[in-house]
Amino acid sequence: MNTVIQPPLVDMACYPDVEMHRAKIRQLLQHDGTPVFICERDNLVDRYQALKQSLETHWGKHVIGYSFKTNYQVARSRILQDMGAWAEVVSAREYQMARQLEYPGSSIIFNGPLKPDDSLRAAIADGALININDHDELGRFIEITSDESTRVDVGIRISSTLPRLGHSRFGFSLENDEASSAVERIRNSTGLNLVSLHSHLYGDTDDPEIYRVAARRLGEFAKSHIRDYRRALKFVDIGGGYPAHGPKPRSRSAWDPRPIDVYIKHATESLRPFFPDREACPALVVEPGRYLTCDGIILVTRVVHVKPRDEKQMVNCDGSISMVPLTHYCPQVIQAFTPDLVRRAGEEISTVIQGSTCRENDLLYEGQFPRVQPGDYLVHFAAGAYNSNLSPDFIFKSPEMAVY
Ligand SMILES: Cc1ncc(COP(=O)(O)O)c(C=O)c1O
Repeated sequence: MNTVIQPPLVDMACYPDVEMHRAKIRQLLQHDGTPVFICERDNLVDRYQALKQSLETHWGKHVIGYSFKTNYQVARSRILQDMGAWAEVVSAREYQMARQLEYPGSSIIFNGPLKPDDSLRAAIADGALININDHDELGRFIEITSDESTRVDVGIRISSTLPRLGHSRFGFSLENDEASSAVERIRNSTGLNLVSLHSHLYGDTDDPEIYRVAARRLGEFAKSHIRDYRRALKFVDIGGGYPAHGPKPRSRSAWDPRPIDVYIKHATESLRPFFPDREACPALVVEPGRYLTCDGIILVTRVVHVKPRDEKQMVNCDGSISMVPLTHYCPQVIQAFTPDLVRRAGEEISTVIQGSTCRENDLLYEGQFPRVQPGDYLVHFAAGAYNSNLSPDFIFKSPEMAVY
């Protein structure tokens, strides 16, 4: 496994500056100990505002739905909620979480392929925006709403074969009659009203052209299959998938993440001809997770043991790969700091950093690294997306998140 990071491959300016915020970070470390996730509020605020600005510039009316599954600790921090983000949830459990965090139903987008009847009923009663995933779910939805006195607004997720990404297994296909017959069933139902088209691209879709294609297909489908689509649709949802500033995923041969504005510009240029009246067009919904959370959160661990072996510096820390499971997806970006949070620079030597579980393969990093000592801090950057939610209480408790 190649875990070597060459510094030019990531732009460290996108991540929290540990030395600049030394005092606040030290205080949190003294209070919480390690391992701990630490979130820089301003970084999340910056990402949110950049996205909002872009949506305002290129489209107008919009909704930013924070994808809860990316990081529940961020959801609980209410940082994004306080700025006006809606909740994007994909299970009954996440739906409950959003309600407990006091999101009104009208600020929840309920996606995903598994929505039990009682969660659908609750979401209908709360006025949430529900995007139906498939014909079986649609059938249940039609039955549940057959007695409603007024029609319930609903969306459908659509999908098609996209360059590089292929054909998503989620949603109604545009390539056969799945999507068109879903529109027809909704039209013929007594209880439903189609108000939203939803699509979502794979995580870390770095090629903005793919957003252009997906958005154009959505517009073409609306135009050809939804009667009076410009008036009927209240929402056009282009999902998430926008990259942050993490290193190249291992599976990619090329990696070129662009500023968020580029993705929004590509998607909206494609959609605009279908909705030319800026004042009367549907709200453009985006559902980012990684883009909002990846950059601003670090995992801090502590060195517990160092020894030379096979001409390498062998380092053991109090973290583990189960705390940053995305190490399998892309390499870690790690820097070392003294107990006073001064960066350890200087000569780099061949190093292996391992976690403290009893698994031989608890490998966090392998490559050139400065000399470290027990008591030093190791800071893992770009750690905010998916890691903590995918981290089990394996041997050690999954780390909490502190905010400054
Ligand atoms: C429907 C939906 N919306 C949004 C997201 C968030 O994606 P990302 O973190 O890549 O922005 C996901 C993630 O898989 C998703 O399935």
